[in-house]
Amino acid sequence: MLPCQRHLFDIPDDVAYLNCAYMSPLMKPALEAGVAGLARKAHPWELTSDKFFTGSDEFRATAAQLLDCSTDCIAIVPSASYGIATAARSLPAKKGQSVLVLAEQFPSNYYPWERRGDETGASLKVVAWPENNDWTAAVLNALTDDVAIAALPHVQWTSGGRLDLVRIGAACRKVGAALALDLTQSLGALPFSVRDVQPDFAVAASYKWLLGPYSVGLLYIAPKWQNGTPLEENWIQRANARDFANLMYTEDYDAGARRFDMGERSNFALLPAAVRAMKQLLEWNVAQISETAGALNRHLAEAAADLGFSAPAEPLRAPHYLSLRRKAAIPKELPEMLAREKVFVSVRGSSIRVTPHVYNTVEDGERLIACLRRIAT
Ligand SMILES: Cc1ncc(COP(=O)(O)O)c(C=O)c1O
Repeated sequence: MLPCQRHLFDIPDDVAYLNCAYMSPLMKPALEAGVAGLARKAHPWELTSDKFFTGSDEFRATAAQLLDCSTDCIAIVPSASYGIATAARSLPAKKGQSVLVLAEQFPSNYYPWERRGDETGASLKVVAWPENNDWTAAVLNALTDDVAIAALPHVQWTSGGRLDLVRIGAACRKVGAALALDLTQSLGALPFSVRDVQPDFAVAASYKWLLGPYSVGLLYIAPKWQNGTPLEENWIQRANARDFANLMYTEDYDAGARRFDMGERSNFALLPAAVRAMKQLLEWNVAQISETAGALNRHLAEAAADLGFSAPAEPLRAPHYLSLRRKAAIPKELPEMLAREKVFVSVRGSSIRVTPHVYNTVEDGERLIACLRRIAT
């Protein structure tokens, strides 16, 4: 378990921010790195050509450490949707085959597959919401020979339901299905290893559990897909990009997954902030982050149970993600009351999504429970 790390964040004492799944706060050292990066643009004469590569190289190397893969397998993308669009463009499917998705999967990991189905004649196969909350069993059951691509998350984004990706990865290989992952609600907070899961593609936006800025993300691409066609063609993906005096046309791309980088990927403000945050996650250690957020959530789940709320138990639920539900509807005034009390969670229909991180204190949790007690009585 990690001691509380709130001193690294600019979170006032009276704010109980329990909503990392919405957007994480940028920690002070990452903000400083981003501001220093943005300031570089004030002195463009100091922005020498090597600076277009050092930030990207560092981003790729740090992301590779988090994913447990080779640096060559990382592309720099602006969003989860960009990474999923890249996967959808690369992975083959045909009429008579299907693309597997979860019920109520996040839209950025649904629309690209719907379109891929329209283009290829493949159908969408939607795994129904399992009443026992066991998404792994439901996915394994649906992984039949017709599945060409399984497009899945590690954690279901509203309920916190956790998928066992090691078992699912092995089952995909057995039926010959490709595995494309959206790790936006898990990477950085739940241990994950490319070596163990062996996905074909895996993407994560930076602004949630990677504690990074908005509009940057990382994309893992397995070696077998690295010769594919990127979404964009630009100068910096090409083999001669480092030679500014000689940028004229070449058919050769830069090595590995770099050809899939977004245009203007060398973002001088965002990349240093994202790298600083990822380095901090590595220092804390993802297993310890998971344990720390998990302990807070377990404590909250117990206290909320006394007030009539229930949540799936671990390991079917990811430790960092708690979705509290109750039979009775949630009063309309709850979001307003929480905001007045400066308690921040997501309220969705009849569930309350609580997603703490290492900056949260036991008091933050107690303040949420005090609000829930008021609507329970
Ligand atoms: C599961 C999941 N994937 C992706 C995203 C973000 O998608 P994008 O980067 O396309 O905006 C979110 C945002 O809430 C999410 O919950």
